[in-house]
Amino acid sequence: MREVTVDINSVSEKKYPIIIGEDLLEKANEYLLRYCPASKYFIITNEKIDGLWGKKLNIENAEKFIIPDGEKYKNYETLISILNKASELKLDRKCAFVAFGGGVIGDITGFAASVYRRGVDFVQIPTTLLAQVDSSVGGKTAVNNEYGKNLIGTFYQPKLVLADTKTLTTLDERQLKTGFAEVVKYAFIEKTCDCGEFNFIDFLSGNISEIKKLNLSFINEAVEICCKLKAAVVHKDEKENGLRAILNLGHTYGHALEKCSNYSIFTHGEAVALGLQVCFDLSFALNLISEEYYNQASELINMFEFNLPEHPYYTPEMITSAMKFDKKVKDGKIIFILPTNVGEVAVFDNIETNLLHQILA
Ligand SMILES: NC(=O)c1ccc[n+]([C@@H]2O[C@H](COP(=O)([O-])OP(=O)(O)OC[C@H]3O[C@@H](n4cnc5c(N)ncnc54)[C@H](O)[C@@H]3O)[C@@H](O)[C@H]2O)c1
Ligand SMILES: [Zn+2]
Repeated sequence: MREVTVDINSVSEKKYPIIIGEDLLEKANEYLLRYCPASKYFIITNEKIDGLWGKKLNIENAEKFIIPDGEKYKNYETLISILNKASELKLDRKCAFVAFGGGVIGDITGFAASVYRRGVDFVQIPTTLLAQVDSSVGGKTAVNNEYGKNLIGTFYQPKLVLADTKTLTTLDERQLKTGFAEVVKYAFIEKTCDCGEFNFIDFLSGNISEIKKLNLSFINEAVEICCKLKAAVVHKDEKENGLRAILNLGHTYGHALEKCSNYSIFTHGEAVALGLQVCFDLSFALNLISEEYYNQASELINMFEFNLPEHPYYTPEMITSAMKFDKKVKDGKIIFILPTNVGEVAVFDNIETNLLHQILA
């Protein structure tokens, strides 16, 4: 069992543990009593996760609420159904919401917890690799509306994150790879996170076959490193006023590609994996990194064999215009996080359109 502490700018009530390991679902009750005592636990999950792992999840004094599976249900309607169910059950202010699932469940449950009775405690029990290394940590909650993704949400930190890596064994290959894209992202930002030396690029390259096979002792270590890196970043910048932007490495292009393809062709991670390569291509063209690092990074991305789906060709103009609509755009300038050295990145808002079009052509 591994433990990482998230300490949001040293405000003690915002300090919480991420517990990482195998067979933690069975021990959930102990952890909840210790880190998030409550009058009642309100578990939000979907049928798929409940069917696969629900019997293992040991939480006493709980009510369970099943919501439909899928990003398209991360919306007002589902949010309201959660809040109404909590009211119908007469859950009081001392109850705690428990998100049991991937990023969709985590985001909507966190949001619901942040507004139910002006905010009740909540716990994340992430069951996808993406949720374990990314979405369950850092306190961003959200739902989508007809104007875009994640437009409505709050910053609201959980009391505990319980990441049972055994749950990852039932993910399909595509879902697993979507998580790997975020894992690789952390390797390229490690030094800028400034929280110790993990040599994460070497760790991933050196153990690639075990990691791809989902050998859990390697996965546990990788999840721990990712959580440490994310915790270090949100410690310094909870609300994305600066440093937190580096977590978006690969996402400027990734989000644009998802938007161009109407969120229907690529998984988020597949789009991010392509976005990571675009960042390295840009950096290399701008002489920000050595050829050696460029080759090492491209090789690591390739090692994960993202098997990208066939997709229609989008012109550089289509991609850049989608980039301009991203919510991260400031004063009309497209923001890129670009590698500047091994494990280091910096924020750029001055990439010339000509160069960008050349790289995207
Ligand atoms: N809050 C944040 O900081 C943050 C960061 C990144 C992404 N996100 C959000 O996370 C969401 C994506 O998360 P995701 O990739 O986990 O998607 P997801 O929650 O839709 O899960 C993907 C699929 O896997 C299934 N699943 C979950 N656990 C499983 C398991 N153990 N075995 C088999 N199947 C399982 C789910 O039911 C779903 O069908 C997006 O809505 C995104 O906006 C939030
Ligand atoms: Zn992402």
